[in-house]
Amino acid sequence: MGTADHITWHHTAVTKESRHLLNGHQSCVLWFTGLSGSGKSTLANAVDEVLFQQRCRSYVLDGDNIRHGLNRDLSFGAEDRKENIRRIGEVAKLFVDSGQIVSSAFISPFREDRQLVRSMFAPGEFIEVYVHCPIQVCEERDPKGLYKKARKGVIPDFTGVSSPYEPPHHPEIVIETDKMSIEQSVKEILAYLKEKKIL
Ligand code: PPS
Repeated sequence: MGTADHITWHHTAVTKESRHLLNGHQSCVLWFTGLSGSGKSTLANAVDEVLFQQRCRSYVLDGDNIRHGLNRDLSFGAEDRKENIRRIGEVAKLFVDSGQIVSSAFISPFREDRQLVRSMFAPGEFIEVYVHCPIQVCEERDPKGLYKKARKGVIPDFTGVSSPYEPPHHPEIVIETDKMSIEQSVKEILAYLKEKKIL
C-alpha cells in the first residue's frame, strides 16, 4: 500500500478555467530541453520577459536554481535525473493549474522522463521546445567552464560528454540557437502560443 492510498483529491473552489478567464490567456508549460550551454535558460528568460511585459502570468523554473533548493538532494545519475524531472513536472503542473505560463529550463536528457511529464498534462498544455545546438558550439560557449572540467574528468556523468542526451522525436518547437537570434526565437515561440490560442 502506498502513502497516497488514503488521500482524496480535493477539488479547488476556483477552477483553472476561471483563472484563465481572469488572466485573459490559457496556461501551459514551455518545456525547454537541450544540452548544457544550448541556451535553454536564456530563451526561457527571454520568453518570460516578453510575456511579463504583455501582462501575462508567467514564471521560469530553471535547473540550476531548483537544484539549489527543492532538488538539492539529487545527483546527476540517471535515477536522480529522473526524480529531478518528475518533481519539476509536478511543480510545473501546479503552476499550470494556477493559470500561469511556465517556461522550464532543464536538460531533461531522457525521452522517457520527458514523456512522463507530458503525460501529466492535458493535450496541448505541454509544449516541448527542443533547444538544438551542436555540442561543439555548446563546448565553445562553455559559459560556466563545465565542459572543460567534464573533459578533464572532474565532473562525472556530464551530459553530452559522459552521459547521454536523447533528442526529442516530435517536439512542438525546434529552436536552433547557433542559427537564430534570441529575438527571432522568442518571436517564433510567441507565434506558436498565438496560433494555439494560448495567448
Ligand atoms: S537534468 O539532466 O535535467 O537533471 O539537469 P538540470 O536539472 O537541468 O541541471 C543542469 C545544470 O546543472 C549543472 N551541472 C550539470 N549538467 C549536466 N551534467 C552534469 N553532470 C552536471 N553537473 C552540474 C549545469 O550547470 C546545468 O545547467 P545548464 O544551464 O544546462 O548548463
